[in-house]
Amino acid sequence: MKGSLLYEGKAKKVYHVNDQEDQLILSYKNDATAFNGKKKDQFEGKGRLNNLITSKVFEYLKQHQIDSHFIKALNDTEQLVQKTTIIPLEVVVRNVAAGSITRRLGIQEKTRFTPPIVELFYKKDELNDPLINDVHAYHLTDITEQELVYIKEMALTVNEQLTQLFKEANLQLVDFKLEFGRLADGTIVLADEVSPDTCRLWDLETGEKMDKDVFRENIGDLISTYENILQRLEANTHA
Ligand code: C5P
Repeated sequence: MKGSLLYEGKAKKVYHVNDQEDQLILSYKNDATAFNGKKKDQFEGKGRLNNLITSKVFEYLKQHQIDSHFIKALNDTEQLVQKTTIIPLEVVVRNVAAGSITRRLGIQEKTRFTPPIVELFYKKDELNDPLINDVHAYHLTDITEQELVYIKEMALTVNEQLTQLFKEANLQLVDFKLEFGRLADGTIVLADEVSPDTCRLWDLETGEKMDKDVFRENIGDLISTYENILQRLEANTHA
């Protein structure tokens, strides 16, 4: 079923599917990178955890009428998805201040954002994924004004659903990054992954950081942290 390698990114490999033009296989790698690839390591089992966590999240979203490219998990590290052309935007939703916004705007960590803030970044490693505004996005990508409105609305709807999902797992969804892709017919759908690599998750009671910040800041064990997230999600989604 798995065809030739189409693309290899920092966290995943993308394969063609034999005799199936409109599908791809994503294979989650054990590599961890931060600060645009400047910090790198490998963690045995990380690919499995992000594949299973992302699969749970996309299944939950589907149950709540939010479609994504996700079709199904194939095994521990691979998932079948609909083929999309990724729009080079990183759409970040922030409920609480952490990470780059604290440095960029001098906002204190843990400051709450009501309503949540949506930020756009241009997905371009050579430029370090700069923050951009809507007009930049029209110039840099093929999206229309209407489509950007749709993308931001989707991002906020995903935020509402995931805030609830993680709350049930005793986690606070601090912020996260989404990517969107176009299907062959031009329809825009949620794509890429939703995992502790792409979300900030803090324990609701202790405030403990339970996401890639444990790697970025050297403050804990990545695998046991991600395993804990998967277990909490499984306990709550009755898998
Ligand atoms: O670094 P920053 O604070 O802007 O990140 C906001 C959120 O987006 C975090 O949850 C982070 O993990 C995620 N992110 C990502 N991929 C990037 C940049 C940020 O998943 N390239």
